[in-house]
Amino acid sequence: MSEKMSRKTSRKKLSVIGAGNVGATCAVWAAKRELGDIVLLDIVDGMPQGKSLDLYEASPVEHFDAKITGTCDYTDTADSDVVIITSGLPRKPGMSRDDLIEANTKIVKSVAEQVAKHSPDAILIVVSNPLDAMVYVAYQASGFDPSRVLGQAGILDTARFSAFLAEAIGCSVKDISALLLGGHGDDMVPLPRYASAGGIPISQLLSADVIEQIVERTRKGGGEIVSLLKTGSAFYAPAAASVQMAESIIRDQKRILPCAAYCDKEYGVGGYFVGVPVVLGADGCEKVIEVELNGSERQQLETSIAHVKELSKA
Ligand code: NAI
Ligand code: 2OP
Repeated sequence: MSEKMSRKTSRKKLSVIGAGNVGATCAVWAAKRELGDIVLLDIVDGMPQGKSLDLYEASPVEHFDAKITGTCDYTDTADSDVVIITSGLPRKPGMSRDDLIEANTKIVKSVAEQVAKHSPDAILIVVSNPLDAMVYVAYQASGFDPSRVLGQAGILDTARFSAFLAEAIGCSVKDISALLLGGHGDDMVPLPRYASAGGIPISQLLSADVIEQIVERTRKGGGEIVSLLKTGSAFYAPAAASVQMAESIIRDQKRILPCAAYCDKEYGVGGYFVGVPVVLGADGCEKVIEVELNGSERQQLETSIAHVKELSKA
């Protein structure tokens, strides 16, 4: 046995591009869940290195084993299994997600090109906004099969919906099951008909008025946080949601999760990325699940899809 124990590892590799609020918090959640070795990359020299060292120094306290690397160099991300892209500007009060499109298209395009070059077999999880359009940019720039390119928004939006429902019902968030479709904009489509608490439809637990208020608050959930923070946007829940996607892929859990996924015939989308329930496993998006919608739900989804297409073509 050599003096030093072998450092060889068969751990999975997760890279997070953008070490700002969402990216750094992704690293924390992923480390805590021991998803694998983590690389945190940013263009600001010293910042990803400092955050990574700080996080590694937390590992003896929090009891996780992971090599955590901070870098500005894509060679350190080589052969990642999963890459979470959080690089880009966040919105400020008064801005919509769509206002970020010009700046973030350039950033996400260059990042996806670098990621594809260094990690040709990776599965991409895009977080940068405007989300559905940025997933499309990453898909085009990477040249990856669309099943290996996904966007995170639906888990976050559904989590907000679920949290508000649990609060109104006065029950544990663990007992809420909910579904939400569409793009990551104020025209997203929460589906109260598919929401339940402990298996009981929420229509038996809350009045129609209260449900409508919760649907509206969910649609504007991102803006609610922006107006409180004033300097940026949400990051704890977005990062937790992104890491849930990474975990389902890395551990091949095949969870059914709402993600921005490539839909062609599905929901009549015609070749764009939009929020739908998918089976998420080692191969990325393994199946898009189509749910039955009534007339009003279908109409709301069509409005949201039209918005996503307009932005993706911009
Ligand atoms: P942030 O400003 O805290 O972090 C962004 C980081 O990206 C910065 O550290 C910046 O230096 C870095 N960056 C910029 N250009 C880069 C490049 N070319 N290569 C590598 N890194 C680069 O912003 P935050 O709060 O982390 O948000 C990041 C993005 O995620 C924003 O676009 C935001 O709107 C979006 N977002 C999306 C959510 C979703 O559910 N899809 C939820 C929350 C945020
Ligand atoms: C959110 O919904 C900013 O898109 C982000 O919080």
